[in-house]
Amino acid sequence: MRHLLEIDDLTVDELQHVLALAQSPSPPQVLAGKGMALVFEKPSLRTRNSMEMAVFQLGGLPVYIQGDEIGLDTRESVEDVTNTLAGFHAAIGARVFEHSKVERMAAVDRIPIVNLLSDAAHPMQALADMLTIIEEFGSVEGRIVSYIGDSNNVTRSLGLAVGMLGGIFRIASPTDYSFGEDDLAMLRSTGGVVETMTDPYEAVDGCDVVYSDVFTSMGQEAETEIRLKAFADYQINEALMAAAGDAVFLHCLPAHRGEEVTSGVVDSPASRVWKLAENRMHAARGYLAFALGGDA
Ligand code: CP
Ligand code: NVA
Repeated sequence: MRHLLEIDDLTVDELQHVLALAQSPSPPQVLAGKGMALVFEKPSLRTRNSMEMAVFQLGGLPVYIQGDEIGLDTRESVEDVTNTLAGFHAAIGARVFEHSKVERMAAVDRIPIVNLLSDAAHPMQALADMLTIIEEFGSVEGRIVSYIGDSNNVTRSLGLAVGMLGGIFRIASPTDYSFGEDDLAMLRSTGGVVETMTDPYEAVDGCDVVYSDVFTSMGQEAETEIRLKAFADYQINEALMAAAGDAVFLHCLPAHRGEEVTSGVVDSPASRVWKLAENRMHAARGYLAFALGGDA
């Protein structure tokens, strides 16, 4: 039984295998005649569509379920929902607020659980991030990936994946929005090099990839104003990209143009954001082929 709650639920070898499967031109029909439940407590464009298309390409039926409709822990407990869905489906993907909800689904241990973004992690995004970096540079090893902005769910999974594949991960966040020692120790547990700083210009010096995410994640909307002030110096704009030299630009999206990144950067020749978005589908297909295909 394979659950993917965070990217380091895979070994390095397994991660490399998943990324190879993601690039395979002939998807194994591991979901033929089977379903995958996709539960979303928050909105989604990329994750929902990439998962639905990946399930379809593997021969299965994706069933989208809105969190409000089933009421995780309000209409029914997480465990009762999981046990019920396990009777219909080969796997459950879930986008939740509290990470503990995907942990509780996994603890039921009847069918594989895939974290589709929680407050702590976004492993399916990290798979696509790695695929995109590999397509660009041939490998992640030795590449410097500079993440600018809020230290959050996307940052954790990205940093772990970069470390697992031998890259160097830099994070530039304002002090109040930086990772504490626990998170840094967790990121370094891969053996990867993690460098932290507060100056975005220092972070992008000599880097290969500049990576951005929103300043205000889903569920933090009440903090928008205070966050916009705190992150005022952390916008990825033309001047910062010029300081980054030949680096490419990635963003998990959705981008808040004019906040964490300018339109000029999103739409620039250095931007690989549409490639990254498409890679969500290939990465999802690779992971599901691994987890449900008897490889795991
Ligand atoms: N990057 C990402 O997860 O996008 P969505 O929120 O649209 O799924
Ligand atoms: N950090 C963002 C990622 C969106 C894909 C959020 O949690 O809203």
